[in-house]
Parts: sequence; C-alpha cells; structure tokens
Amino acid sequence: MKIAESPSYFLREIVSTDIENVYQGLSNPDITKYYDVHFSSLEATKEQMDWYASLVKEGKGQWWAITDKKTEEFVGAAGYNGIDTIHKKAEVGMWLLKEHWGKGILKEVMPVVFELGFRDFDLNRIEGYVVSDNVKCKKALEKIQFKREGTMRQCEFKNGAWIDVDIYAVLRGEWNLE
Ligand SMILES: CC(C)(COP(=O)(O)OP(=O)(O)OC[C@H]1O[C@@H](n2cnc3c(N)ncnc32)[C@H](O)[C@@H]1OP(=O)(O)O)[C@@H](O)C(=O)NCCC(=O)NCCS
Repeated sequence: MKIAESPSYFLREIVSTDIENVYQGLSNPDITKYYDVHFSSLEATKEQMDWYASLVKEGKGQWWAITDKKTEEFVGAAGYNGIDTIHKKAEVGMWLLKEHWGKGILKEVMPVVFELGFRDFDLNRIEGYVVSDNVKCKKALEKIQFKREGTMRQCEFKNGAWIDVDIYAVLRGEWNLE
C-alpha cells in the first residue's frame, strides 16, 4: 500500500516479497559500509525483515520501501526506529540501491519521511546518526533541512577502532507541516 509520495517516488509498506530487494541492498558492502548490519544470504536477510515487522508490531517505528513512480521499481528504503513516545523523538534512516545513488533521491524523499514523522507519529524531534566518515550521506543531508548539531567523538568501537558519529536533527517547530 502506498503511504506517501514525492514528485518522482512513492513510499509504500515493506512486504515479505521485498526480501530480495532488501537482500540486494544490505548485501552490498558499499551500502552497509557504515551500518551495523550486513547480510550475506537471502536466508540471513529474514532477520532484517523480522526487524521491520517488529518495529511496527511494538510501535517502535516503521520503515517503507521507496519505489519509482513510473516503473514501480524498488530503489531503496527509509524510515524510523527507536520511537520514544515520552520525548516524542525517533531516529530516521535511509539507504538506496547503489545504481540510484547521486540522483538527489534523499533530497526529494527525506522531507516526505519527515512529514510522516511529524504528522503520523506525532514526533517533536527527528534525529539522524551518521558515522562522521560517511561523506556521501553528509553531503546529501546538507541539501535538506536537517541541522548538524555536533559530533559524538569515539562514541562507538567498531572493527577494532573508535569511530565518531555526527548527530543531526529537525524539530517540529522549525518544520512547515503541510
Ligand atoms: C546516503 C545516500 C542515501 C545518499 O543519497 P543520494 O540520493 O545518493 O544523495 P545525493 O544524490 O545527494 O548524493 C550525495 C553524494 O554522494 C556522492 N555520490 C553521488 N553519486 C555517487 C555514486 N554513483 N557513487 C558514489 N558516490 C556518489 C556525491 O559525493 C554526492 O555529493 P554531491 O552531490 O555533493 O557531489 C546513499 O549514498 C546511500 O544509500 N548510502 C548507503 C547507505 C547510508 O550510508 N545511509 C546513511 C544514511 S544517510
């Protein structure tokens, strides 16, 4: 079911048959480079599908498939996890299949994701955690209304090294809800 749209893309619910699409994405080391997840088999990707389903079931978030309006082709996924209903905040995320990088999709689609967060999830604050070395992501985020609030230095230990993570946020008060 389609949930929302931008000029060229739809956001629709992730369904079980998307496991191939999710596997294609989260088995690509260029896509998962800064992620805590990477799946080397279709079977293993079931864990990610279960996670998407558990978010909705537990009211902790929701991820959607991003599809091309003309072709209905799956181009990536975006959504929320870690919804905190007391403090009305959540973490937002997005990944795109590599063949769709560099087309400005994040710039076009992320505002629609923000709109859903403020309107349907009644959030006051939407946060993004970006590994400081993830230049592609940071360049994309510069193109939208998402304030970089700072760097959490050496806040995670990964692959034998400390990593810095940048924190971004947008507030309901500064977002023009449609
Ligand atoms: C982060 C991501 C969603 C960016 O979305 P996007 O729609 O491609 O963003 P943009 O089109 O604005 O491109 C952002 C930067 O990526 C780089 N880029 C663009 N096309 C690229 C390509 N084909 N290959 C490598 N890098 C490319 C460019 O540096 C570009 O910056 P510029 O436009 O200032 O030159 C995408 O890179 C991605 O899915 N990355 C893997 C998952 C991830 O790291 N997600 C983190 C959350 S943001």
